[in-house]
Amino acid sequence: MLKSIHLQNFRSYKKADFNFSEKSTLIVGPNTIGKSNLLEAIFLISTGKSFRTEKDFQMLEQGKEVGRVSAMVDDLKLEVVITNGNVGGVKSQYKKFLVNGVAKRRVDFAGNLLSVLFSPSDLDIIVDSPTLRRNFLDNVLEQVDREYRVASIAYVKALRQRNALLELARETGARNEKQLEYWDSLVIENGQIITSKRNQFIDFVNSAKKDIFEFIILYDKSLISKERLDQYKVEERLSGVTLVGPHRDDFSIQMKGKHIANDVKYFGSRGQQRLAILQLKALEITFIEEKMGKRPLLLLDDIFSELDSGHINLVLEKAGKQQTIITTTHKEFVGKLFLKQMEVIELENGKKD
Ligand SMILES: Nc1ncnc2c1ncn2[C@@H]1O[C@H](COP(=O)(O)OP(=O)(O)O)[C@@H](O)[C@H]1O
Ligand SMILES: [Mg+2]
Repeated sequence: MLKSIHLQNFRSYKKADFNFSEKSTLIVGPNTIGKSNLLEAIFLISTGKSFRTEKDFQMLEQGKEVGRVSAMVDDLKLEVVITNGNVGGVKSQYKKFLVNGVAKRRVDFAGNLLSVLFSPSDLDIIVDSPTLRRNFLDNVLEQVDREYRVASIAYVKALRQRNALLELARETGARNEKQLEYWDSLVIENGQIITSKRNQFIDFVNSAKKDIFEFIILYDKSLISKERLDQYKVEERLSGVTLVGPHRDDFSIQMKGKHIANDVKYFGSRGQQRLAILQLKALEITFIEEKMGKRPLLLLDDIFSELDSGHINLVLEKAGKQQTIITTTHKEFVGKLFLKQMEVIELENGKKD
């Protein structure tokens, strides 16, 4: 359970403290007051990453050299220090992780606070680009599986090196076979771990009971192997990039129906697409619970303005089942009965009341 969080020079926060109870917490405040910033800080404590940017220094309050987020999660003190890369004229890491004051790598820091985030951009998972769908899979699996975290990092790194070599081959015709072989084996080994674990999650979703919306996921996987790389050798040389592997994965959501063509992306109504996402998010919680033996913290960032009242109530029913932190512009989105069971924090001028 997340007991408290302390922010310092984090985005719009100079200094702020928040305490949370086991119940649901509703954070209310107008636009740009800092609601998403606060959830970003909690997500950072949970995953070691931002859900809004790849550039970590952007989380630092503009003009500052060092910022920090620290949180009490049960009896653990989890802390992330962010810098602009140059503290007092000395080169420094952009991010540092500490557990009870002891420095950790991100792969070991992440996973101490399990969480599921639901933000308005999740509502586009089905219709938007494959990147969003791959990020979704990564977020679920990185939470529950250290081996997946290690494989993801190693894969991205090896892919970058391999692409640099392929680009060089494209430009100069020089193909450094020995070096390429080394990176080939790394992308194959780590890529296959990623594919198989993504497959396990998708199998879980497909066999799970669905109480909101019936669907199955079709995993459009881009398998990586020695044979597949050999097969694409000529094309890769021409394009200068790696053409197969989990960085090219995608999935689609298929409604159950009497027709064959039932992709929710193309045939579902807006309402059906929303229900599918709500169901997918609910199953993300169940998956984490099944793997880790406890329910994750649920973070809902300003999604109510995007949903109708029926969908809001579906979400709020799920919210009652574990610690939940919700942000919203208007308390009125939450029905009286639900509101009675919540702690309310009102944000004003970037501070809490
Ligand atoms: N690195 C930063 N330093 C200072 N202020 C920032 C930084 N990043 C974002 N902000 C400010 O944070 C505010 C947005 O906060 P946000 O949490 O997204 O609001 P909301 O309550 O609408 O979710 C904006 O005023 C923006 O200028
Ligand atoms: Mg926001």
